Amino acid sequence: MPRRLTGIAALAALVLVATGATSGKHLFGQECAQCHDTSKAPSLRGVGALAADFYVRTGYMPLAHLGVQPHRSRVTFSEAQIRALVAYVASLGKGPAVPKPQPARGNLSAGMQLFTDHCAGCHQVLAEGGLVTGAVPPALGDATPVQIAEAVRIGPYVMPRFTKHAISDRQLDSIIRYVEYTRHPDDSGGWSIGHIGPVPEGLVTWFIAIVVLLGVCFAAGKRLRA
Ligand code: HEC
Ligand code: HEC
Repeated sequence: MPRRLTGIAALAALVLVATGATSGKHLFGQECAQCHDTSKAPSLRGVGALAADFYVRTGYMPLAHLGVQPHRSRVTFSEAQIRALVAYVASLGKGPAVPKPQPARGNLSAGMQLFTDHCAGCHQVLAEGGLVTGAVPPALGDATPVQIAEAVRIGPYVMPRFTKHAISDRQLDSIIRYVEYTRHPDDSGGWSIGHIGPVPEGLVTWFIAIVVLLGVCFAAGKRLRA
C-alpha cells in the first residue's frame, strides 16, 4: 500500500513537471503569440530571460492592443506561470539572464551623479517621472532593483539602452541605490513638503515666524493690559 502511494506521488510529480515545462509554451500561445509570432511585434528570439522577466513582471505585457506605450499594470499570472513564460522566451534563443544587482554595494553620491547625467532628463531628478515627446517616462517608485537593472539594459520603448560599457554593473548598483533613496529622501535640514524645494520651505518658515510673532504680541498685549 505505501508503495502504491509512493508510485502515485511520483506519477503526480511527473505530471506536474511535465505541465510546468510545457505551460510556458502553451501560455505563450494563448497570451503572446497573436502578436509575437507575427510581424505585429518584435521577435523575441535572443531577448533572453532578462527582457521577458521585465515585461511580464511589470505587467507591460501582454500589451492590451497595438500602438500604445506599454505601461505598468496588474500582473494576472501566477509566479509559476511567470517562471514558465520567462523560461520559454529564454529558450527561443541565446540571450541575457535576469540580472542580480546589489544596490548595497553602490555609492549614493555616484548614483545621484549618474542618474542626473543619464536618466533625469526624462525621469526627473527625484525619479518622479516626466514627459518626452510621444512617450511618458514613468515615475520609478514601483520598480524593484531587478527591474531597474533590466530596464537600463533593455531600453524599453523610447528609453535608450545602456550597455555595460556605458554603465557598468557597479555603476548600475549606485544608480539603483539612488533611485531607492529618492523614495525616502533624508530631509534633514528642511521640512519635506512634497519635496518641492526651498521656496515653500521658506514660506512655511515665515508662516511659523508670523504665528510666533502674533503669539508674542498677544502675550505682550495681555501683560500691558494687566
Ligand atoms: C497586442 C500585441 C502584443 C501582445 C499580446 C504581447 N506583446 Fe509583447 N510586445 C508587443 C509590442 C508592440 C512590443 C514592442 C513594444 C515597444 O514598442 O517597446 C512588445 C515587446 C515585448 C518584449 C520586448 C522585446 C524586446 O525587443 O526587448 C517582450 C519581452 C515581450 N513583448 C513579451 C511578451 C510576452 C511574454 C507576452 C505574453 C504574455 C506578450 N509580449 C504579449 C506586442 C504584444
Ligand atoms: C529618453 C528618455 C529616457 C531616458 C534617458 C531614460 N528613461 Fe527610463 N524610461 C523611459 C520611458 C519612456 C519608459 C517607459 C517604457 C515603456 O513604456 O515601455 C522608461 C521606463 C523605465 C523604467 C521602468 C519603470 C516602470 O515602473 O514602468 C525604469 C526602471 C527606468 N526607465 C529607469 C531608467 C534609468 C535608471 C535611466 C538612466 C540610466 C533611464 N531610465 C533613462 C524614458 C527614459
